[in-house]
Amino acid sequence: MPPVISKSAVAESTVKRSQHIKTETFNVAAVAPYQAMPVAGPVITHHKSTALPVLEPQQELTEEEREARIAELISSYTKKLAERTHHHMGYPYNLDFDFGLLEGLTKYSINNLGDPFIESNYGVHSREFEVGVLNWFARLWEIDEDEYWGYITTCGTEGNLHGILVGRENFPDGILYASAESHYSVFKAGRMYRMQAEKISTLETGEINYDELKEALVKNRGKPAVLNLNIGTTVRGAVDDLDRVLAVLTEAGYTEDQFFIHCDGALFGMMMPFLNRDAPMVTFRKPIGSVSVSGHKFVGAPVPCGVVITRFKSVMALSSDVEYLNSRDATIMGSRNGHAPIYLWYTLTRKGYEGMRRDVEKCMRNAHVLKTMLESAGIKTMLNELSNTVVFERPKEEAFVRKWQLACEGDIAHVVVMPNITVAKLEDFVSDYIQSRARVAMAAAKRVACEARAVDEDLAAHGIA
Ligand SMILES: Cc1ncc(COP(=O)(O)O)c(C=O)c1O
Repeated sequence: MPPVISKSAVAESTVKRSQHIKTETFNVAAVAPYQAMPVAGPVITHHKSTALPVLEPQQELTEEEREARIAELISSYTKKLAERTHHHMGYPYNLDFDFGLLEGLTKYSINNLGDPFIESNYGVHSREFEVGVLNWFARLWEIDEDEYWGYITTCGTEGNLHGILVGRENFPDGILYASAESHYSVFKAGRMYRMQAEKISTLETGEINYDELKEALVKNRGKPAVLNLNIGTTVRGAVDDLDRVLAVLTEAGYTEDQFFIHCDGALFGMMMPFLNRDAPMVTFRKPIGSVSVSGHKFVGAPVPCGVVITRFKSVMALSSDVEYLNSRDATIMGSRNGHAPIYLWYTLTRKGYEGMRRDVEKCMRNAHVLKTMLESAGIKTMLNELSNTVVFERPKEEAFVRKWQLACEGDIAHVVVMPNITVAKLEDFVSDYIQSRARVAMAAAKRVACEARAVDEDLAAHGIA
């Protein structure tokens, strides 16, 4: 258990931090393993990151000195990013991309404000890329171009907020159903939209408990259902079986005009269509309402982004015309990142379906390699069949957890095997982990020996031994 952080410890660290900021103004950390402060306990974790003060022009530096210092800061920050990228294993981000050709675009404030399909009066946009990407996803999830609506979001969270909002607007008295292992944004959406919510427990795999879901649906039979299904949960990578949930809805007496299903496919929703095996496919040929993914996860991008696709007829319930935009408002955000669609378009165009399929196969293969390596070192693991998330016992050394930026929950940690994680990197990680475990075991053994010595000494002092 990481130490509980008390208010006084936070206050003390705030003082230290402000001293640290003063002395470190131009000394961005030398390249060292990432050491975030552990977060635990009841104190809300604000004000914990260090700050790089903004340089005021009137500080006693010449213009040239200031420019040199800025360049030095950015250069050492770039090194830090490279090191952190190298040692990253815990979050589902594909860090392997090269957008060199697009660098010139940062000169432009590209903004797709409003609806992707209706040009606003602001001309510096990338709607042609956005709609191209959306059409690609519409084909992936099997919905005709004239039947879908969607947009490129800020992230998977926005996709969930949108999907559940569309569900709510179509069924204002709908009850939200989702598993307890859903991403926190799902129940946050429920709270934001003041929806009654049913949190359903999970099976050992992390999938929604289908029997409990049925019981809840039967109990609430008079009200429509807005369901969030996980196409890969955050921690254990579990996939809720869409076909089974559809069967449960029928058994509970719900017809298609009485439910809305949002599929949260943040990571695995982007991988499942490319698997060469039986899986409960997510497709608009089935009665689902929306699907969302994060763009910076499997595809990979230098900025967070995502995609949400829904049915055109469903989104009508929340769209309205806005004269100021000369567009329609059906998105959560107003201004929207116009660079993100270009990154997604670029990667999808360069890799194509076949390149994506190869990436998926590689990740699934390497996830099994990691599982086998850990198990051969005596470390218990879990890997769902439809997942690239390898779950294992939480390493005891916090420094190790932070060095590899592992995401932990309770006593488990995971590695999400993404396209940038090679076998060589897995080898590095596992050997580091084995050494960490050996250090922990050695320290425990030494503690026992030390205690035994103390007892001996005590006995000897009393003339017993
Ligand atoms: C299942 C699931 N849904 C939604 C999200 C949120 O995605 P984002 O971080 O892109 O907002 C995550 C993030 O890890 C996730 O795992």
